[in-house]
Amino acid sequence: MIGTDILYAANLLTNGELVAIPTETVYGLAANAFNGAAVAKIYETKGRPQFNPLIIHSNSFEKFLSWGIQIPEEALKLAEKFSPGPLTLVVPKGNKIPDIVTAGHPSVALRIPNHKTCLELLSAIDFPLAAPSANVSGSISPTSAQHVYEQFGEKIPYILDGGTCSIGLESTIISFTGNTPALLRLGGLAIEEIENVLGKTLDKSKILNNENPEAPGMLSRHYAPKTRLVIGNFEDLPTNLKERKIVSIRFKDYDKHIPHSEQIILSKNANLNEAAQVLFSAMRTADKFQADLILAEKFPETGLGLAINDRLKRAELS
Ligand code: TXA
Ligand code: MG
Repeated sequence: MIGTDILYAANLLTNGELVAIPTETVYGLAANAFNGAAVAKIYETKGRPQFNPLIIHSNSFEKFLSWGIQIPEEALKLAEKFSPGPLTLVVPKGNKIPDIVTAGHPSVALRIPNHKTCLELLSAIDFPLAAPSANVSGSISPTSAQHVYEQFGEKIPYILDGGTCSIGLESTIISFTGNTPALLRLGGLAIEEIENVLGKTLDKSKILNNENPEAPGMLSRHYAPKTRLVIGNFEDLPTNLKERKIVSIRFKDYDKHIPHSEQIILSKNANLNEAAQVLFSAMRTADKFQADLILAEKFPETGLGLAINDRLKRAELS
């Protein structure tokens, strides 16, 4: 069921049920992080590998501290500047957070979402919400309540509707478990902004992928539409592909080789934030064309363009 009743959602969560929640990045599939059986339902419903840890969400850092989590000073500095917002901090977990949430890791990922409905829900409960993106493991993240319903239907007791996500890409994840803050996932907060506040360059050698044992979760293959996706220009496609049915996802203008009706422009104003916001729903729309190929343009490697290209690359791998 889709609805807007925050107290109803809070009650379900208190009783160990799953609720899909809106955030500014993507919708999450939430459970009471202190209830191991409830968290287990997240893994089961998503078909998520058990080794992939979850982010916990709350409405204040005071609450995280009260749950025995220690937050290093540099992490607090970022939190002060960017929370609530599309930023997740990985810090030592303390001993209150159940192992099922962190998949046995000694660290935990923290986030305060910048979304009114979600913050109201979080302030109505006295436990953190463990919540991955509310999609079947490996597929495209949902940016509306309808997207969640299309995938899970009534399998999720309640989908709290908070409208369309304003950022549209998952949070940027920074780890504070080593000597230097490390970027684990490109996301809705541009790394330039983070580096400016920290006054230093992030360690970028730990970006999550299959080969990185420290962050087992970020499987390379991810964000995948059902249709095969290739990044590049029409001219560079092999001839046999040029003749197939192609739908194109583009930044700001049309490709002259493909009919306009088969192209999705993400931002006519050439605005990368605007493009990021609609990327996932464009991937869903592209799938509905039932084409042989989704041809995605490579985006400029700056600001959120880096995160957009990251998602496209992972979709291409599948
Ligand atoms: O924007 C977001 O971050 C959304 C919304 C719902 O908050 N959540 C989200 O969750 O994208 P999920 O589970 O789809 O992605 C979280 C990523 C996973 O790749 C996971 O491996 C990583 O965060 N992660 C979680 N805890 C971690 C930890 N302790 N150490 C390293 N990576 C961690
Ligand atoms: Mg996800």
